[in-house]
Amino acid sequence: MATALITGASSGLGAEYARQLAPAYDLILVARNEARMQSLAQSFSSGRKVKIIAADLTKAVDVERVELAVAEATDLQLLVNNAGLGTVGKFSVLDAVTEKNQVLLNVNALVALSHAALGNFSRNRPAQAALINVASVAGFQPTPFSAVYAASKAFVKTFSEGIAEEVRGDGVIVQCLCPGLTRTEFQERGHIDVSSLPDFAWMSAEEVVRISLANLSPGSGVVLVPGLLNQAMALASSAVPSALNARLMAGVMKSALNVRA
Ligand SMILES: NC(=O)c1ccc[n+]([C@@H]2O[C@H](COP(=O)([O-])OP(=O)(O)OC[C@H]3O[C@@H](n4cnc5c(N)ncnc54)[C@H](OP(=O)(O)O)[C@@H]3O)[C@@H](O)[C@H]2O)c1
Repeated sequence: MATALITGASSGLGAEYARQLAPAYDLILVARNEARMQSLAQSFSSGRKVKIIAADLTKAVDVERVELAVAEATDLQLLVNNAGLGTVGKFSVLDAVTEKNQVLLNVNALVALSHAALGNFSRNRPAQAALINVASVAGFQPTPFSAVYAASKAFVKTFSEGIAEEVRGDGVIVQCLCPGLTRTEFQERGHIDVSSLPDFAWMSAEEVVRISLANLSPGSGVVLVPGLLNQAMALASSAVPSALNARLMAGVMKSALNVRA
């Protein structure tokens, strides 16, 4: 039976991946909030198996536990590295522990679990094998006042593009999903003021995940930016020199997210 493991499955995009994959996959759900994952699992009517792993992916010992689960999962066909955290504010005054945790969660855990999944795929050679790494449009340019988050997502994008080329001939699909503003708990958790942002700038988690899964095929390309507005922003960022991008983004962060410098 095909198995998919999803990190950050207790809310937002991760819970939505679980909902949309539940009819076709046995699931392994990973996040800290066990009760929320239990209640999500109970809402599925597919009769597929759901295993829940409560883990804090900023903690090395928990990452090792999940690495083992990925390495040993029977018929693992899909890993969704989705768990992530972002903050907004001036780096030097933001809480140091939370800034370091962003690197541990968004980067270290994702690298560890990607390695375990590719090892599983190479040993077991499942009929289909795919890795989805969730980055962000924030990864397309330096972003003052969200410097660690944007840098962590730039890492995810570059890393995913690199390993995608390495496994191109092995029948493994690598997708780097780069969403823009998506209605989840992300902004609330990061204490991000979105009151000035217009409605049209947002996508739903349901739409973003549907686009991700619809494009999980060998010819679809590695980097996937859902939504026309996000695609236009990513294209504009790629065309502008980095230093100018940083200057422009500082202005955007101050006006759109009400960040105080
Ligand atoms: N929403 C957006 O606007 C947006 C835009 C671009 C990219 N993204 C990316 O999308 C991904 C999913 O975020 P989301 O929008 O769905 O946000 P969310 O609703 O806040 O979900 C984040 C998920 O990550 C889990 N998580 C957080 N810290 C964790 C930790 N230390 N260990 C294990 N799991 C942890 C949370 O579960 P627990 O609290 O139960 O651990 C939750 O399930 C992230 O990588 C984010 O960077 C989001």
